[in-house]
Amino acid sequence: MRSGPTQADLAHLRIAGLHKAFGEFLAVDGVSLDISAGTLGTLLGPSGCGKTTTLRIVAGLEQPDSGRVELGGSVLCATGSPMIPPEGRRIGMVFQSYAVWPHMTAAENVAFPLQARKVFRSEIAGKVKEALRLVRLEAHADRYPGQLSGGQQQRVALARAIVFEPRLLLLDEPLSNLDASLREEMRIEIRSLQQRLGMTTLFVTHDQDEALSLSDTVAIMQRGRIVQAGRPRDVYERPTTPFVARFVGWKNFLRARVADSATVHVGDVPLALQSGGLSRGTEVDLCIRPEELFIRDASNGSDRDERELAGEVIAQLYKATHADLEVLVAGRMLSARVPASAEFVRGQPIFVRLAPEHVLMFPADTDLDP
Ligand SMILES: Nc1ncnc2c1ncn2[C@@H]1O[C@H](COP(=O)(O)OP(=O)(O)O)[C@@H](O)[C@H]1O
Ligand SMILES: [Mg+2]
Repeated sequence: MRSGPTQADLAHLRIAGLHKAFGEFLAVDGVSLDISAGTLGTLLGPSGCGKTTTLRIVAGLEQPDSGRVELGGSVLCATGSPMIPPEGRRIGMVFQSYAVWPHMTAAENVAFPLQARKVFRSEIAGKVKEALRLVRLEAHADRYPGQLSGGQQQRVALARAIVFEPRLLLLDEPLSNLDASLREEMRIEIRSLQQRLGMTTLFVTHDQDEALSLSDTVAIMQRGRIVQAGRPRDVYERPTTPFVARFVGWKNFLRARVADSATVHVGDVPLALQSGGLSRGTEVDLCIRPEELFIRDASNGSDRDERELAGEVIAQLYKATHADLEVLVAGRMLSARVPASAEFVRGQPIFVRLAPEHVLMFPADTDLDP
């Protein structure tokens, strides 16, 4: 096993215009994505949006109806040309289910791809040992999967995926079956291994936290399409659709209607907010993060400010560093971050101010649940 990437190994992944239908159903609908050599890109989206199908096409386990996949300049598949079979692609893959073989020891599992690739027997032991060392399992080489924890089995799967020095690593929700603390730990391990080996990696997850913390680039998928891609921070701070906003953690949504250039109506309540050129009468979704909602008590009979909405407290959830205040405003539940020392009571009338510079306004997405 190498200690670091060589120039020839650095492989840029280029996916262009992939389509794949199952019967009438379009599972992948024009996916294009670039992952620079040595970086980690993530497909993030809800269950059923086409992530696994995209990954399987890249791996060669599925043939696309159209589109093209290139790795390090060589074409793996393209409309009209013969497809390179999976074993000819030098791609390592880890599945959510681990898929380690129960009747083989950890070392035998890891040796398997080398044997399948007809690597000289004299080289296999050394490579297996190094791969197991990289995933910190060298002491467990002779154990069977049944004698290993879930996290350790997942590490065997990871060692097996990297032992033949793949040019690309594909990870399909590899952490979803692990408990929360182990998931965090494995997340850090995968990222550090990927960076040390300089391995181009395509990671798939439905967990926004995982995607934002692991990735160099993140692509949000919805119904077979990539709706936004970019650096995690950019996508988080500037989502371009309400779907993306919700998916990366903008919790609060209000439906409103543009009244004039400086006012929207939430229900029949006017709220001072610039409508950014949207025409009068347009239905919009207002998105705002919990830390940009400001709550004040309304039980003393004070008047509503034009930048505020009236609501009522539903619950206050203590979180050590702060508290999450759940409030009901215009028929929607909103979540605000307040100091841990705040003492709101259920049913208490409040006013909510939306920091206008932090409100995102989109034409209403009728697909978005209220
Ligand atoms: N072999 C298949 N035959 C029919 N439908 C499939 C097949 N594979 C996937 N699908 C459908 O394609 C859609 C996308 O699936 P998938 O790529 O597994 O999504 P994800 O990994 O994002 O959850 C789903 O609706 C799924 O039911
Ligand atoms: Mg999947």
